[in-house]
Parts: sequence; C-alpha cells; structure tokens
Amino acid sequence: MLKPDPAQLAASDAALDSLPGLAPYDLGPDTFLVHDPATGRRLARVPNCTSDAALDQLTIADEAGRAWAATTPRHRSDTLHAVYTVLLEHRDRLANVMTREIGKPLAEAKGEVQYAADYVRWYAEELLRPGGGVRPDPRGGATILTTRAPVGLSVLIAPWNFPMAMITRKIAPALAAGCAAVIKPAALTPLTTLLTVDLMAKAGVPRELMRVVTTTDAAAFSETVLADPRVRKLSFTGSTGVGRRLLGLAAQHIVKSSMELGGNAPLIVLDDANLERAVEGTVRAKLRNGGQSCVAANRIYVQDGIADAFVEAFTERMGQVIMGHPLADGVELGPMISREAVDRLGELVDDAVVRGAELRLGGAALTGPGNFFPATVLDQVPGSARIAGTEIFGPVAAISRFATPEEAIRKANDTRFGLAGYVFTETLDRALDVADQLETGLVGINTGVPSSVAAPFGGVKQSGLGREGSGEGLEEYQEVRFYSVGRGER
Ligand code: SIN
Repeated sequence: MLKPDPAQLAASDAALDSLPGLAPYDLGPDTFLVHDPATGRRLARVPNCTSDAALDQLTIADEAGRAWAATTPRHRSDTLHAVYTVLLEHRDRLANVMTREIGKPLAEAKGEVQYAADYVRWYAEELLRPGGGVRPDPRGGATILTTRAPVGLSVLIAPWNFPMAMITRKIAPALAAGCAAVIKPAALTPLTTLLTVDLMAKAGVPRELMRVVTTTDAAAFSETVLADPRVRKLSFTGSTGVGRRLLGLAAQHIVKSSMELGGNAPLIVLDDANLERAVEGTVRAKLRNGGQSCVAANRIYVQDGIADAFVEAFTERMGQVIMGHPLADGVELGPMISREAVDRLGELVDDAVVRGAELRLGGAALTGPGNFFPATVLDQVPGSARIAGTEIFGPVAAISRFATPEEAIRKANDTRFGLAGYVFTETLDRALDVADQLETGLVGINTGVPSSVAAPFGGVKQSGLGREGSGEGLEEYQEVRFYSVGRGER
C-alpha cells in the first residue's frame, strides 16, 4: 500500500498544528478526540459542547443576525467574494486538514476545497439577483409586490463525508440571504469546519454570525436548539432516520426545514452506451470519496447486450485503483471513515456472495492499522441480497443485469429513496425517457459526477425536502412576502 512522502506528511502535520484555538469561545470544559482514519492515531481534541453553551451561541448569532439582515446586498456580496479568495489562498492547508480527518485522497480534498469555495462565489453573485415581482390584482384596484426576506436564525447540521462543501453549501446561502447560523459539524470531522469558518471570519464575515458548536451529543444539541422559538430554519444533511426525528423537533415551532437524506442511487447502463464512458463514469460515481457519498452509484444495472463487456472492463479498471495513505501521490482510494464502516462492508459482501453473487474483485478488509477496504466488484447480485436494498457507503460495486429498460426502471424505483440516478446511453431519446421515469431528484446522464454549484441538489421520496445549491438553494433561506398596494376604491 502506498505511503506518503515525509515532506508531505510534515506539511500536513504543520496544517494540523496550526489548528488549536479555532474554537475560541467557551463551549464547556469537556472535550472529545478526533482520529485519523488512515492510522487510527489521535489528531486533535475539540470542545464537547453542553446544551447551555449551545443556547449561548444561539443568542449571539440571533443578535448578530439582526444587524446582518439590514446590510446591503452589495456588502454581503463583497464579503462573500472576499471569503472565496481567502479560502482558495488556504487551499493546501484546508485540504491537508480534511485529508487527515476524513481520509479523502489529497487531490480529491483539494477538489473539495474548490467545490466548497465555488458555493461561496456562486451565492456572492446570486444574492444580487433576489427575484421578486410586480403583478396586478386581477380584480383591479391593487398592485401586488412580492419580495424576499431572510428567513432568520438558521441551524445547520452537516455530515462528515464532505466536511467543507456541505458547510459552505449551507452557510453561503444563509449569509447571502441575510441570516445568521449556528453550525454543528459531524463529531468525526469538526476540524475542517472550524478552519473554514475561522478563515471566513478572517475574510470579513462577523464571527458572531457563524457559531460552530462541536459536540458528540447530536441528539441533545438538536433537542435544545429546536425547542427555541428563535430558530426559524433547519438545514440537515444525513440519514433518513435522523432527518425524520429532526422534522419532528422542527414541527414544534413550525421551522422551515431542508433535508438532504439517504440515497440508494440506481445506475443504468443501456446496450448502446459508449463502453469507455460508461465504465469511467461508473467508477467515478462509485469511488468519489471512497463511495462514501449519498449520490454514490449503489445499484448498478447493466443491460444484457453490453453486460459481459462492461463487467470485464469495469472490473479491470477497478483493479487498477490505487489504495493507500490518502496523502501519498496517486492514491485514488483512502481509508473508510471508521472500523465499523469497514466491518459493515465486509458483512454486506459476504451476505451477497452467500446469496449467489459472483465476487469479481476485492471483497475483504485489509488487516493492520487504518480502515482500509479495497475496490470491490460483485456481479449477478440477486435482489434478495442485503446490499441491493442498503446504502453501501463504500467502494463496493453491486452489479445486476436486465433485459429491457422497463425492467431496469421498475427495479431502480423499487426503493423508498430518491436522491440520485444515472443513465448511460448514446441515444438522447432513451436517456431522457429513462431520466423522466426515474423517481429521483437528480439524474446524471453519461456522467458519474452530476453535482454542481449551479444545480438544485436534493431528493424526492424519503431522500429529502428542499434543494441546495443554485438559485433554489438561496430561496431555502428566504421567505416570500407580498404587499398589496391599493389603487383606489374596490
Ligand atoms: C453527498 O451529499 O454525499 C454528495 C454531495 C455532492 O455531491 O455535492
């Protein structure tokens, strides 16, 4: 397995050494440890916030939010543009911290820094065009003006798998709209968030507007903050189970909520797909972030006419994937986030094989330090296998075959989830026919990475509510209001 160059390791250690003091406010005396998934070693200790401290942060943000809501769009835009510049100036530092705490290969972590900063730039631009309109009342006698107001104090709960991009995708539109936020990063990956928010403050965003609360007690945090009537917005990315509980809590004060929840993405390869493109797209859809993504290709359906050639070429390409320490040059697959994640992957593969799947590559965790699981290919996966109905969250490709597009669509939609879907074909009509029938919020057509700052990311069915990114993502932090302007007697 590839190991990092000592100079690269030293640069990464220096980035970590620069972190102490990033949680400058008092969150209580308790602390918790953050570990390196590539080695199991301790990386840092951060405050383990109490519920009282969370409420203090809420108060600070609430007060600061009032002044921020009154700033001009131009001021907010200029501030966010400054943030974009500063984040990119610190790209290597951010990527090194991210790689160490989540195990994402360094090149991919640098890509995430760019992706995360792009959300900031997008909203710096988008906020200058907030929409609104003028329409006559059809009965006459009045003109209706619609306008957008900031929704108010926002609670942003982020996942561990994209510890920077999922933060900026929430905080940038919140700030753009004129809202303050209390931010809870995942306990597994708080360091990238703390550094990102610190850099945002250095670029000019008032610290009082973005209060990061680090805690291992996510349930206590949510119960406390969502019981407070000052909170007007909740944005959560995580599992459907937790999302359901949060929606229950948000119902107490009718809090506007957006939820990006679990996925079980089908990827469909039709007979007429370009083989090379389909293989590369599937590898990307499967291995981005080691497969630990809500939009990762989870169930790969390949049409009979291309199946043997696809499985052959895909297995060969997956076999070339270089696994190793995420700081080492050329590594495409780093460790999984935890030992439990690795054990779970092993169980899913074993269950599929017992039920009749063919193991073509990989299949067993590496022994030794770090949470490593190799690129794995299963073919002929039966519908009865647990892996066919579970969000895999790892580098295991589960392939099954189909005869007609109708069969593929029926299988693809046979799930309570509906975040992402993929289709590979060289025929536009067939691509659009399949995409139209997939019950998902987004479809990658001949691409394995459909996410973009310009796209309204989000799911249907039990994969979520609301959208992030694009203009729609700004509206999640706004309320539409109207003024009816009387024009004489009615
Ligand atoms: C995820 O939520 O896991 C993926 C996020 C993205 O593609 O932007």
